[in-house]
Amino acid sequence: SESLIQKLNETIENIPDFPIPGILFRDITPIFLNSKLYEEVIEDLAHFSRGKVDAVCGIESRGFLFGIAIAVALDVPFVLIRKKGKLPPPFISEKYELEYGTSEVEMREGHLKPGQRVLIHDDLLATGGTTEAAARLVEKQGAKATQFSFLIGLNGLKGEQKLEQFNAEIYKILTF
Ligand code: PRP
Ligand code: MG
Repeated sequence: SESLIQKLNETIENIPDFPIPGILFRDITPIFLNSKLYEEVIEDLAHFSRGKVDAVCGIESRGFLFGIAIAVALDVPFVLIRKKGKLPPPFISEKYELEYGTSEVEMREGHLKPGQRVLIHDDLLATGGTTEAAARLVEKQGAKATQFSFLIGLNGLKGEQKLEQFNAEIYKILTF
C-alpha cells in the first residue's frame, strides 16, 4: 500500500559507495527496529501469496529474515536455500554467474514435494542471478516456482527478464 511504501522509504537507509564505489546500498536492517512495521511488511508479502502457494523458499541470508515469517503467516512449509557448503547431505546444488566468477546455492533434497507451488522470496532483486538459481533448485525437485516476492526490485539490471522463463507472478514492494 501507499502508506507502507512511504514508511519503508523513510526507514530504509541509503548508503552511498558501499560495498564498492558507485553502489548505493539499501540497508533494510532499520525495519527490524520497529516490530509493527516488520509485521506490516510480512502481512503485505503474505497477502500476495495467500492461498496461492504450498511452500515458501527463502534465500540466504536476508531472504530468511522475511521468508520464514511469510511461511508461518501462510501456514505452509519453509525451505532454506543456502549458500554452498552449509547444508548436510542429501542436498541439490545449482551454480550461477556473478559479475566476477560463479557462486552456488543448495537446498535439502526432499523438503519440497513434486507438484508443490512455491513462492521464492528474497529481500532484493538485482541481476536476478541468485533468484534464477533458486528457481532451478525448486524445479529440480519437481516443484514449480509460481511466485517471486522481494522487498526491493532494482530497475535497469534485467532481473525480471531473467525470471520471465518461469512464467511466475512477481511482486516487489519497492522499486528503485
Ligand atoms: C544480495 C541480496 C540478494 C542478491 C541479489 O545478497 O540479498 O540475495 O544479492 O542479487 P542478484 O539479483 O544480482 O542475484 P548477498 O549475496 O549480498 O548476501 P546476503 O543476503 O547474505 O546479505
Ligand atoms: Mg541475499
